[in-house]
Amino acid sequence: MRKWLILFVFLPVITLAGYLDQPKCTDCHSDLIEKAILHTPAKEGCETCHGVNIKEHPEKAPKGLFLTDSIPGLCYTCHDGVKQEIDTTRNVHQVVKDTKKCMNCHSPHSSDVKKLLSADKKALCINCHDREMDVNGKKTRNIKQLLLTSKVIHPALNGGCTSCHKPHASTENYLLISAFPTEMYTSGKKENYAICWECHDSDLLDLAKTSTATSFRNGEQNLHNAHLKGLRGRSCVICHDVHASNNKFLIIDKIAFGQWSFSLNYTPSDSGGSCAPGCHGKYSYKR
Ligand code: HEC
Ligand code: HEC
Ligand code: HEC
Ligand code: HEC
Ligand code: HEC
Ligand code: HEC
Ligand code: HEC
Ligand code: HEC
Repeated sequence: MRKWLILFVFLPVITLAGYLDQPKCTDCHSDLIEKAILHTPAKEGCETCHGVNIKEHPEKAPKGLFLTDSIPGLCYTCHDGVKQEIDTTRNVHQVVKDTKKCMNCHSPHSSDVKKLLSADKKALCINCHDREMDVNGKKTRNIKQLLLTSKVIHPALNGGCTSCHKPHASTENYLLISAFPTEMYTSGKKENYAICWECHDSDLLDLAKTSTATSFRNGEQNLHNAHLKGLRGRSCVICHDVHASNNKFLIIDKIAFGQWSFSLNYTPSDSGGSCAPGCHGKYSYKR
């Protein structure tokens, strides 16, 4: 009878007392969980991710993270969807695999930004894209410098870079949400430029004649249609910079063709505009 008493009554009481005696992780590390949005497992207990022996810590082993698994394996135990996305998608943003991996962009504990991001959506991307980078032998531009030195910023960027780009991986070029061509000359089929129709009306391209769908027209002749629907359809980026530029309507200063580049010399006017690029002489349009 007595043995039973010890086992069922005192033992749990003693264990519980011992447990209550132990300092909690958050007694000393409260700063990590202070931000508004808390990662669910950090709410539930630090031990899911840290195999820290509380009896010895911090005196004996204050250095080292003692993660229960390596990153990203640890994250993938609960976020299988992200693993699927990264393992099976054609075009992967290589930062998800570099030294810091997921921690390049996320906090594992808490954050003031939705999706546990370590900075707001725009700063997050620009902090890294403050230099040129190699992607399959081509160089990406320094987007931070472009934004700082341009007078006109595409309003699409107000919603952050993820209005158009996927952060982890994408089936499309340039990690885009939907299609956009990599070549300067690409057929004017509207599917090829799907990313633009996420926000703009594709009539600006599709209608050969219009007096409303676009201001880039000569009378009723749609010059978007004329430039893109020809035998050698010209991509939007032959005239526009999709991020930012110094000219009205996001028109670029210079077109680069391999080693050559030439100026567009675009001049807007109240009823139209003109340009004098290397591909044809001066040309004006009037609405
Ligand atoms: C009595 C205070 C205290 C308690 C309780 C405590 N820690 Fe710590 N912890 C420290 C100190 C001090 C350090 C060393 C300095 C630092 O990195 O903040 C440390 C370091 C760490 C580190 C390593 C940081 C690094 O950069 O190497 C981890 C991980 C950690 N603690 C996790 C935990 C977890 C998980 C718990 C609960 C199981 C816990 N700690 C409980 C005080 C504490
Ligand atoms: C979802 C997994 C996960 C949970 C849950 C978690 N951590 Fe961490 N913790 C990490 C990872 C990953 C790092 C490394 C962060 C980095 O490399 O930037 C880390 C880093 C740390 C560090 C090092 C200092 C720092 O700011 O990076 C401490 C201390 C720490 N964790 C304590 C805790 C405590 C205390 C809890 C519970 C409140 C906890 N962790 C819950 C994954 C987790
Ligand atoms: C023990 C399970 C577990 C582990 C391990 C874990 N997470 Fe989570 N995570 C969750 C849960 C639960 C949520 C709450 C939202 C949900 O159900 O998807 C969440 C939410 C998130 C969110 C926000 C999602 C949203 O829709 O707001 C991000 C980002 C995230 N985790 C990243 C990570 C990263 C990075 C790691 C590795 C360091 C990690 N998680 C490890 C369980 C986990
Ligand atoms: C380049 C920055 C970056 C890296 C690196 C990164 N993420 Fe994300 N992640 C984001 C952004 C931005 C979002 C929010 C997307 C949105 O809101 O449209 C996000 C969303 C998430 C979500 C929410 C669900 C979803 O898919 O939208 C989870 C979970 C997540 N990330 C986990 C991870 C894991 C795990 C890793 C490491 C393998 C990782 N992330 C690496 C930027 C990143
Ligand atoms: C920690 C640094 C880092 C952060 C943060 C980061 N990137 Fe990147 N990004 C890179 C590197 C390195 C490359 C070149 C290697 C690659 O991914 O192919 C790259 C490439 C790209 C590319 C070109 C991909 C292609 O296939 O042409 C795009 C687009 C891009 N990043 C957008 C973003 C966006 C949007 C964000 C914010 C959600 C972001 N990046 C955040 C480092 C970063
Ligand atoms: C309106 C949609 C849109 C938004 C918003 C957007 N991008 Fe892009 N991005 C594109 C398109 C389209 C391309 C491919 C054409 C090109 O290179 O200009 C691209 C290409 C890129 C590239 C690779 C090629 C290059 O131009 O260097 C990087 C890096 C990049 N974007 C980063 C960013 C960052 C960082 C942000 C946020 C500050 C952002 N993008 C916001 C549409 C967008
Ligand atoms: C996330 C939404 C969004 C996406 C995607 C988007 N745009 Fe925009 N864009 C806007 C908004 C908002 C404006 C400002 C209002 C307007 O002119 O419709 C704008 C304006 C423009 C302008 C300048 C018009 C002016 O009057 O100055 C051009 C040029 C442009 N976009 C081109 C593009 C191209 C090319 C694409 C595809 C690569 C694209 N946009 C994709 C939202 C978007
Ligand atoms: C040959 C050069 C050229 C090409 C190629 C081009 N645009 Fe334009 N676009 C212009 C000019 C010039 C304007 C300014 C018209 C005006 O208001 O005078 C303009 C205006 C716009 C506007 C503002 C609204 C409007 O239609 O007037 C949007 C949005 C736009 N373009 C999107 C696109 C998209 C999307 C593509 C690719 C599918 C594209 N453009 C291709 C020259 C071009």
